[in-house]
Amino acid sequence: MDKIDWSNISFGYMKTDYNVRCYYRDGKWSAPELETSEYLNLHIAATSLHYGQEAFEGLKAFRGKDEKIRIFRMRDNAQRLQSSCRGIMMAELPVELFEEMVLLAVKKNEQFVPPYESGAALYIRPLLIGTSAQVGVKPANEYTFLIFVTPVGPYFKEGFKPTPMVIMREYDRAAPLGTGTYKVGGNYAASLQSGEKAHEMGYSAVLYLDAKEKKYLDECGPANFFGIKDNTYITPKSTSILPSITNKSLMQLAEEMGLRVERRPVAEEELATFEEAGACGTAAVISPILRIDDISENRTYHFSKDGKAGPISEKLYNKLRAIQYGDEPDKYGWITIVGNRKSG
Ligand code: PLP
Ligand code: COI
Repeated sequence: MDKIDWSNISFGYMKTDYNVRCYYRDGKWSAPELETSEYLNLHIAATSLHYGQEAFEGLKAFRGKDEKIRIFRMRDNAQRLQSSCRGIMMAELPVELFEEMVLLAVKKNEQFVPPYESGAALYIRPLLIGTSAQVGVKPANEYTFLIFVTPVGPYFKEGFKPTPMVIMREYDRAAPLGTGTYKVGGNYAASLQSGEKAHEMGYSAVLYLDAKEKKYLDECGPANFFGIKDNTYITPKSTSILPSITNKSLMQLAEEMGLRVERRPVAEEELATFEEAGACGTAAVISPILRIDDISENRTYHFSKDGKAGPISEKLYNKLRAIQYGDEPDKYGWITIVGNRKSG
């Protein structure tokens, strides 16, 4: 393996040694198989290609100071994938099989888990696709589940430095009764035009409003939104947001730090009252927001006077990272330890 500059890797794809796969046929899931090819052999009429029958997940493994590899909340990802499966009529993958395959994928690619000092992590990408042929719009009866892993640095290249985000009223990500709560590819396809436009304009992400009334906040591209005011952690509730496992963790940590926690509809105007704001997710961790521009309405909301993250966002970020890297004990049962190079 070529030497990797661990401290400077971006959020991108890097080839690792193995991926892990299993197959659903005749109503049963096969045993996991290790694979070295990065390619799939797929039927040209597979439902994943034509009708978007695909769901994915994203979670991370972290190498601690003690060299142990820790995976964060993988059961929650397994359960969310099952919810996505129900959402778009795919065969549900058993939670135990998901966990077994995550552990296998990480163990077999152990040398790609970045060193503790780098602040990087191993991103784990599970993917489930409909593979059997269908020309009418119907669910497949065969599925492939696979997991690949790749070492990653920060999603937003600025890392923990606040970045500007934008409200673009001419685009929606997900409909109120659509697939926004599922982690399915179609939602990301729907976000590509607005996302690219935002990047060209110098924004790190789009903050989507609810598609029906354009009044309430939904989420920030590939991450949930939170705001802080009056010692309260506030995050939007809506029927088109992906339930973030990071956000769920932060709500618990915030409460333990003595903050009030509110998950409720958040009208756009309320942005003017927030002392701090951030995007949170597996890839984004906490990405503090510098300001939000509602471009067609000519409104701007500022969250950082000195270009730095606010104190509560920073405290939450440090606490979450400390648990993930094993600097602080996991009293929540969030961590699964994989083992280390010496003990295997
Ligand atoms: N929202 C969207 C649309 C996402 O793609 C993600 C990433 O998974 C999140 C939120 C954050 O969720 P999590 O914290 O579970 O990674
Ligand atoms: C994640 O945070 O895991 C994501 O899936 C975000 C994005 C890369 C789609």
